[in-house]
Amino acid sequence: MNKNILIVGGAGFIGSHLIRLFVNKYPDYNIVNLDALTYAGNLENLRDIENAKNYTFVKTDILNTDLLGQAFDKYKISHVIHLAAETHVDRSIDDPLAFVKTNVVGTVNLLNTALQKWYNNLDQHLFYHISTDEVYGTLGEEGLFTEETAYAPNSPYAASKASSDHFVRAYKETYNLPVIVSNCSNNYGPNQFPEKLIPLFINNILDKKPLPVYGDGNYTRDWLYVLDHALAIDTVFHKGEVGETYNIGGFNEWKNLNLIHLLCKIMDKKLNQSKRESEKLITFIKDRPGHDRRYAIDANKIKTELGWTPTVTFEQGLTETVQWYLDNTEWLKNVTSGEYQSYYKDMYNNRTKGGLSKGQEKLPQEQTQSTTTQ
Ligand code: NAD
Ligand code: DAU
Repeated sequence: MNKNILIVGGAGFIGSHLIRLFVNKYPDYNIVNLDALTYAGNLENLRDIENAKNYTFVKTDILNTDLLGQAFDKYKISHVIHLAAETHVDRSIDDPLAFVKTNVVGTVNLLNTALQKWYNNLDQHLFYHISTDEVYGTLGEEGLFTEETAYAPNSPYAASKASSDHFVRAYKETYNLPVIVSNCSNNYGPNQFPEKLIPLFINNILDKKPLPVYGDGNYTRDWLYVLDHALAIDTVFHKGEVGETYNIGGFNEWKNLNLIHLLCKIMDKKLNQSKRESEKLITFIKDRPGHDRRYAIDANKIKTELGWTPTVTFEQGLTETVQWYLDNTEWLKNVTSGEYQSYYKDMYNNRTKGGLSKGQEKLPQEQTQSTTTQ
C-alpha cells in the first residue's frame, strides 16, 4: 500500500539512517523529512538520497503548528514516525526548558495536528513515537527494563521524554489516535554528533585531547548499532500492534571504562599507533549530576512477537563506526567548528578543573522567558 510518511527529526543521527533505509527499501512510499535543523540536524547526512524521487525535505520546527498543518495537507500525510527531540542529557541539565519545549510541547503539537487531520478515518493512520530507555530511570547490578517497568526518569531529558510518552499514550486512550511507542537503548554508529560518548572520544583521540570519563567510569549502557535500531523501527512500523510499547536493545551491556578501552584499542590499530597510546588520554573528571548507573533492556518482546534481533556485533559495529569517522574527517570538522567549541569549553573546562563540590551542583541556565500564565 502506498503511504505518505512524515519522518520528524530525519536530519539527525537515527532519523537519517531511518530515512535512507525507507527511501531505498520502499520506493512506493513517499518519505517526507520534517526537521528544524538545530545544531544536531545535518542535511549532509542525507546527501546520497536527497534527489530520490520518493524523498522530500521540509525545514520546519515542531513548535510551529501552522507550518505543521500545512505540511500534513500538502503531502497528504498518512503516517508519522516521530524522532525530533533535544537528545543530550548534559545539555538538559543546563537548559531543561528547551527540552520541555521541543520534547513535550512539540510532541503534543504533532499529536494535535495528526488528530485534526486524521479524525474522520483514524484507523487508516499511525503515529509512531520513538523514545528512550532513560524514561525507566536506573538499574542496580541486576535486572532489565521491560515494557512493564515503572517510569522513573532522573534527568530533565529523561523527564521530558517520559512526559512525551505519556501524552502519546493519553491521545490513544482519550481520542483513539492509533499510536505505537518504542523505547531504545544507547545507539552508536556513523553520523552521531560528537557530544555523545563514542564520537566525542573518537574526535578527541584524533585531536590528541583528554578523554573525559565521568565519575569512576563504572556506568553501564546497552549499546545498539544505529542501523539495527532503524531495522527495529521498520519492523515495529510494519508489524507492531497499535497501542503497544516495544523495548529495543542490543543484548550488549558494557561498562563505560571497558568500552573506552576497546575503542582506544581499535583507534590505535587504525591509526597505526603504538599499543595503549590512546589510553594515555583517559582523564577522570567530575561526574554528571543524577548520572544513571546502569541501563539494560529486555528486548524479548520485539524479538519473539515481531521477529527482530540485532544483526551487528559490537566489535564489528564499533570498528565500522571508527572507520566512518576516519573516512569523513570533513563532516567531523564541519560539525566541530563554531558553536561546538564554546559548547565544549562550557561543558568540560569547569569539570576538568574539579568543577563544583557536592551541594553546589550546576543550576539550570537563567530562565529568559516567563512560562507562568497570568
Ligand atoms: P539527534 O539529536 O541526532 O537528532 C535530533 C533531530 O531532531 C535533529 O535533526 C534536529 O534538528 C531535530 N529537531 C530538534 N528539535 C526540533 C524541533 N523543535 N523541530 C523539528 N526538528 C527538531 O537525535 P537522535 O540521537 O537521532 O535521536 C532521535 C530520537 O531517538 C530522539 O527522540 C531520541 O530521544 C531517541 N533515542 C535516541 C537514542 C540515542 O542513543 N541516540 C536512543 C534511544 C532513543
Ligand atoms: O539510553 C538511550 C540514551 O542514550 C538516549 O536516549 C540519549 O539521547 C543518548 O544521548 C544516550 O544517553 P547517555 O547519557 O547514556 O549517552 P552519552 O553518550 O551522553 O553517555 C554515555 C555514557 O558515557 C554515560 O554513562 C555518560 C558517559 N560519558 C559521556 C560523555 C559525553 C562520559 O563518561 N564522558 C563524556 O564525555
